[in-house]
Amino acid sequence: MENNKLEILNNGISMPLIGFGTYTLLGAECEKCVSNAIETGYRLIDTAQMYNNEKAVGNAIKHFDREKLFITTKLYYPSTSYEKAVLDIEKSLNNLQTNYIDLLLIHEPYNESLSMYKAMEECLHTGKIRAIGISNFNKIQYLNFIKSCGIIPAVNQVECHVFYRQKNLQNILEEHSTHMQAWSPLACGKNNFFNNPILESIAKKYGKTTGQIGLKYLIQSGISVIPKTSKIERLKENINIFDFNLDESDIRKIQTLDRNKSLFGWYS
Ligand SMILES: NC(=O)c1ccc[n+]([C@@H]2O[C@H](COP(=O)([O-])OP(=O)(O)OC[C@H]3O[C@@H](n4cnc5c(N)ncnc54)[C@H](OP(=O)(O)O)[C@@H]3O)[C@@H](O)[C@H]2O)c1
Repeated sequence: MENNKLEILNNGISMPLIGFGTYTLLGAECEKCVSNAIETGYRLIDTAQMYNNEKAVGNAIKHFDREKLFITTKLYYPSTSYEKAVLDIEKSLNNLQTNYIDLLLIHEPYNESLSMYKAMEECLHTGKIRAIGISNFNKIQYLNFIKSCGIIPAVNQVECHVFYRQKNLQNILEEHSTHMQAWSPLACGKNNFFNNPILESIAKKYGKTTGQIGLKYLIQSGISVIPKTSKIERLKENINIFDFNLDESDIRKIQTLDRNKSLFGWYS
């Protein structure tokens, strides 16, 4: 099974289309889940300073071949100045026990995003970071940001799932060569995602689960995904989506689920 399909980012770096999200996983549990994810075939691990689990991620990844992994982390409000961002990038490197980060994002828009980004751009040049980007920037915030930043963000990681597809945002991002990555690609189970009748009927047709249908829909739409689970069986299930393709009529049915509204109160 080929489960490590790649997206080529705007600076030529390859990023896996599916990764393992670690939000809410802490300490020994996080360490175990990240190890299980890598053993299952995941190569991208998504963490953040805000998740308070970078050290646990670092404890797990140090047992694997670093070059085969793709580690994403994010700076948040304690780093809101150039100087603080410089220090906090070092903190992430120390916590993750690595000498480079594959993708560093600004966790959400801040007034000081451009100063933080300047520190990130410098680390890109010195090789401490391989790609830089942003997260939770809506269309207006993104367009304003790219007017002034030096390097176009490689990625904007945003809420995206069958109920909030964000097609307009994706179009704008792609116009400017920024890749859209989906957080909560399973809608975090909200809105009865796993028992949705449309997803269930499509899942039955392909011999898949509703989760697999929701993830594949995003990947077929050119969006990478970082589902989280603490269960080993679900780790296997969520990555086992590269042996089928949704046909056009099923994609149209899934499109009817889009409410064009955040389930988490973002961007309103
Ligand atoms: N940039 C940002 O601001 C931001 C915001 C939110 C999230 N994220 C990132 O995106 C990642 C994913 O988002 P998320 O964790 O909010 O939501 P998600 O991946 O959409 O859903 C996770 C939830 O679904 C359950 N689940 C996972 N696979 C399942 C399956 N196959 N069948 C049934 N239930 C399943 C998990 O429970 P179990 O663990 O019990 O399996 C968990 O409750 C996060 O972990 C984080 O890395 C980023």
